[in-house]
Parts: sequence; structure tokens; C-alpha cells
Amino acid sequence: MNTRILALISGRGSNLAAVVEAAHAQAWKAQWVGVISNRPQAAGLQWARDHGLHTQVLDHQAFETREAFDAALLQSCKALQPDLVVLAGFMRVLGEPFVRHFEGRLMNIHPSLLPAFPGLHTHRRALECGVKAAGATVHYVTPTLDHGPVIAQAVVPVRAGDDEQALAERVLQAEHRLLPLAVGWHVNGELALQSGVVHHRRGAPQVLFFNE
Ligand code: GAR
Repeated sequence: MNTRILALISGRGSNLAAVVEAAHAQAWKAQWVGVISNRPQAAGLQWARDHGLHTQVLDHQAFETREAFDAALLQSCKALQPDLVVLAGFMRVLGEPFVRHFEGRLMNIHPSLLPAFPGLHTHRRALECGVKAAGATVHYVTPTLDHGPVIAQAVVPVRAGDDEQALAERVLQAEHRLLPLAVGWHVNGELALQSGVVHHRRGAPQVLFFNE
């Protein structure tokens, strides 16, 4: 049976594109049920439309409270009956009812080696700390921001002279490899969650190292 995938985005949608392209190239047993953005101007929406995906906008600014937005988002997502919801650059914190509803089938990508640097301005904070390695994490989502069982991580070097933009770009290239890998594993039933830890059933390495 096809896995019904729904993506939530807020911006340019380059991670979404990477996953859609991998799904196509590797002929995953999956179908896209939609792309929802909380920002009407998100560039990723146009990309999704151009590629024949169903899109929907749920502008968070149109809601009085966070809870009201969350409830509407939950309703819209449920209506599409997804098996998996991928947060591909979705920049809103999701409330507990939403997260609980999709527990175990809600994935997020964050541009740091979690649990370091959750939240905003990830790369700036990493550079301020003088870290020598940076990267990205794909994880199942729990109600805590940028937190939950880690599915896979990608590690990139921090180079002398890096500014926020240079580091973000290096990490983003790694994200485009990491997210399709993690989503593909989930779709293919390769992941098992035991005592809060995600294992790959056939023992594939859950860390990617980039040193270009
Ligand atoms: C990515 O770097 C993603 O990791 C980050 O937003 C960017 C979206 O880019 N997500 C978060 O910071 C979530 N906390 P994209 O729209 O080009 O995929």
C-alpha cells in the first residue's frame, strides 16, 4: 500500500523538492497527499504547484490564538488522511494535540546536531560557540520544540572564516541528502522505535559525514 505523505512548509521548499525528487527517482511506494504552508508567499508552494502537488495555505496570522491555528491545521491535515507528515522547513511550533495525533508519523528536519541549538538562529549560535562540526537532524516530533527520537544526522565541518550564510549553505546541501534518506526509510518500514531510540532494522548507518 502506498504511504500517503503530507508536507508542511513555511519557505523556499528546497527540502520538500529533495524528498519529492527522491521519491520519484527511487519509485517509493508513496503518494503525495498535499503540501500545506502557513505562509501564503512561501516559494515552496509554487514549486509544489508546478510539480502537480495539491497545495493549501493556512495563514497563521489569520488566527487569533496559537491554539486556534493549531486546531485548524490539525483538521486540514486529518482531512488529507496522511500516513506520514513531514515538517520540511515548517517554522511554527506545533501544539501538543497536533503532535500527539500524529505521534510516530510526524518528522522534522532541523539544521543542527540536536540537541544542540534548537529553535531559531541555529547557525549564528553555533558559530558564536565556536563549534567545529555542525549539521542537521531528522527526528520524530515530540511536543518539545526541535526534540524527539533521532532518525538520522548529517555532520559537516565548520571552516575558518565561515559566516552564517556559508555554514547554512553547507548544512542545507547535507539536508538535501539526509531528509530523503530518512523519509525513504520510514516509507519502506525500515525504522523501529524502541525505548525512545530509533534503530534502522537492517543496521544502515544513521549518520552521514560530509567533508567536501
Ligand atoms: C531548512 O534549513 C530546515 O532545516 C529549517 O528550515 C530550512 C528550510 O529550508 N528548519 C528549521 O529550522 C526547523 N526548526 P527549505 O524551505 O529550503 O527546505
